[in-house]
Amino acid sequence: MPNPWRRYEGAPRIDLPAGPPPPEASALSVLLGERGPLTPLRGADLLSQLLFYSASISATKLVPSTGYRYALRVNPSSGNLHPVEFHCTARGLAGWEDGLYHYQPSCHMLERRAGGVFTAAGTESLVFVLTAIAWREAWKYQDRAYRYCLHDAGHAWQSLALAARACGMDTTARTDFDDAALAAALRLAGDEWPLLVVGVHAPCQGGEADWSAGEPNALSESVVDYPWPATMHAATTRRPSYPPSRPFGETVRGRRSALDFRGGAETMPLAALRTILACAAIGGRITLYLYVHRVDGLAPGIYLLRCADLELVKMGDQRLIAAGLSLGQDLAGNACVAFSMIANTEKIVADRDYRDALIEAGAIGQRLYIAAEALGLRATGIGAFFDDEVHRYLDIRDGQVVYHFAIGHPVHDPRVEA
Ligand SMILES: Cc1cc2nc3c(=O)[nH]c(=O)nc-3n(C[C@H](O)[C@H](O)[C@H](O)COP(=O)(O)O)c2cc1C
Repeated sequence: MPNPWRRYEGAPRIDLPAGPPPPEASALSVLLGERGPLTPLRGADLLSQLLFYSASISATKLVPSTGYRYALRVNPSSGNLHPVEFHCTARGLAGWEDGLYHYQPSCHMLERRAGGVFTAAGTESLVFVLTAIAWREAWKYQDRAYRYCLHDAGHAWQSLALAARACGMDTTARTDFDDAALAAALRLAGDEWPLLVVGVHAPCQGGEADWSAGEPNALSESVVDYPWPATMHAATTRRPSYPPSRPFGETVRGRRSALDFRGGAETMPLAALRTILACAAIGGRITLYLYVHRVDGLAPGIYLLRCADLELVKMGDQRLIAAGLSLGQDLAGNACVAFSMIANTEKIVADRDYRDALIEAGAIGQRLYIAAEALGLRATGIGAFFDDEVHRYLDIRDGQVVYHFAIGHPVHDPRVEA
């Protein structure tokens, strides 16, 4: 097992302020697109808050046989191996030196690798570059490792994007960079590859604008009323209304993967499942199949999520098959609902689309984790499954299964300490 921490030996370390205030916006409202209040912060406080609620250590886990405790983070990772590193370029942040930084989660510090203005990754005042060190996964997961790196990058992306949103900011993610040029500009080690660029910016609201006079002119003497476009427009207008949930800060720092689920007769409400599915929606490269085991008001079976509707594909108890397809992991059968995420292969036309599809699956996974947690349930990402058997069982002809997931009522894990 390689060293789990990348360090830039000799780089000055800047301690980020401890105990940044928790974003109080409700976790579900953030997932459904609402921004928390934007508070102007000094650079150190802003970076501390963003990273504390997206990438820092949030708990430890005990290995009972040795008494050794290892760290768990806000963002999940296959086998807790964390191949993803967070780098950022900062420019013009209040009280903060411009430059290129690398996050050190073990001590919540930033290593300043270089000073000056970096625009190689983007022109926003704060740009994160998420990289992966694949062999940190490969020593354990071999050929499966690259997939997991992409999923982990998707999880890290949404972890960061949601934290930014909860703190009143927007993000823009990009994967269309020149890999070699970006790696060279950031002087990354040869074993570290850039996977995702996430620019962070304050929202465009126009609230402080200096309005010059100017009234819209009348386009005709009288307004002709065409009711149908107005009805269509009203039907597609956003009217924010969010189900109550735990606050964002508490939810993301309390997020954990369930070791297993309780199984038995305990169910989850259909409304909760619908909310979770609404929160998960992102991208368009992934189709979700659901193995419904224990959802009130929904008969057990396989369902396909199509345009927010659940379409029954197969009736009947899926508990054994869901666990079997997930490499015999009981949690996929003991959950209330398990998932197969299928990449739509007709959308994979260039090599890069493969990466994007797997990153998107990870991003959906992160949103499922936070939505489940916000509603008092728990989730687990499942990277281990039998691809061909899943394709056969679900009759997938032009898709590729890329990720499994499970949500339900967790069993207590006595090894975890917050
Ligand atoms: C891409 C990915 C694949 C995973 N695959 C599995 C899996 O097959 N089985 C499992 O029990 N947990 C799986 N997990 C959960 C991880 O083991 C878990 O995230 C890690 O131990 C860290 O714990 P935490 O999520 O509580 O922080 C996976 C997580 C991710 C992100």
